[in-house]
Amino acid sequence: MSVIRPIIIDADGVVQLLDQRLLPFEESYVRCESAEAVAAAIQAMVVRGAPAIGVAAAAGLARGSQSLGEDSFDDGFERLCAIMGESRPTAVNLFWAIERMKGVASADHASAAARVAALDAEARAIFAEDIAINRAIGSHGETLVGPGAGVLTHCNTGSLATAGYGTALGVIRSASEAGKNIRVFADETRPYLQGSRLTVWECQREGIDVTLLPDSAAGHLIASGAVDLAVVGADRIAANGDAANKIGTYQVATMCQRHGVPFYVAAPLSTIDRSLPDGSGIPIEQRSATEVTEVFGTPVAPADVPVFNPAFDVTPAELITAIITERGVLRPPFAAAIAAAFAADSTA
Ligand code: MRU
Repeated sequence: MSVIRPIIIDADGVVQLLDQRLLPFEESYVRCESAEAVAAAIQAMVVRGAPAIGVAAAAGLARGSQSLGEDSFDDGFERLCAIMGESRPTAVNLFWAIERMKGVASADHASAAARVAALDAEARAIFAEDIAINRAIGSHGETLVGPGAGVLTHCNTGSLATAGYGTALGVIRSASEAGKNIRVFADETRPYLQGSRLTVWECQREGIDVTLLPDSAAGHLIASGAVDLAVVGADRIAANGDAANKIGTYQVATMCQRHGVPFYVAAPLSTIDRSLPDGSGIPIEQRSATEVTEVFGTPVAPADVPVFNPAFDVTPAELITAIITERGVLRPPFAAAIAAAFAADSTA
């Protein structure tokens, strides 16, 4: 058992981020001394995964607030929030964390120093809560995993994608901790390879049996009967349960439905965007052509080919068997289940 620490908030508020671009080959941290540095790190994928992006953003805003003057605090903090909000568009946890930090910044405080202290405490609370939430997701989700199950997952949703433990990979971890002897199948997750670089690395460190497959083999694997369930994370879930997640998730869900395999989404309530009635309004990040035309800097396609490289897709709610949250396992119809989960959680 090893502890993976993707985000470290130092005593002075400096944010250290495990550089996920270098994994699994090198473990080193990027030191972020400002909110701008954290925003740049999110944009550059030093840190990625919806909950981790939110936690890092909160920590970055807390650190950035230290350099704001008493008289210009409000304007300065607003500017830092705007910079942070520009870093990546799809994961709603980013905007959720910014709003939570704004709420603290705008509360009554005796001085800028008191405001800074409150922001620091809030960022650390968001960090700690995220780990507790993931553990709750894990224990709810683990009940859905039978002994010896074959579990397919897509992208990386583990410790690296959160403050620690993970969402979908947290379910897998909980099942493994419960001694269920599961077998994990990890899609490589082209083009950024979060599955092969990150999920396989995490599973191997945790002693979880993992087999890597190309994304294009998932349908064949599911059809073979080797997969008892699929569990993935989410970057933004609409009020009706439509769920945006890493590109390729929709294909996995479709193949699961065709073969009668349960398809689960594991995510905290902070990933649910109730302002969107369905998934059609979820902004989908488009990423650079070179992620597809090159592999680690080596060309694998004619350089001038037009490229379609969306980072996420939306799985319609009707393909989702259940959404595993810290409030329990939500079943269709999701609109009512999501509303009830929020009603039961006044902090969400
Ligand atoms: O582009 P990424 O690596 O940030 O995308 C991550 C995902 O799509 C994850 O599945 C999602 O954020 C859930 S992480 C617990």
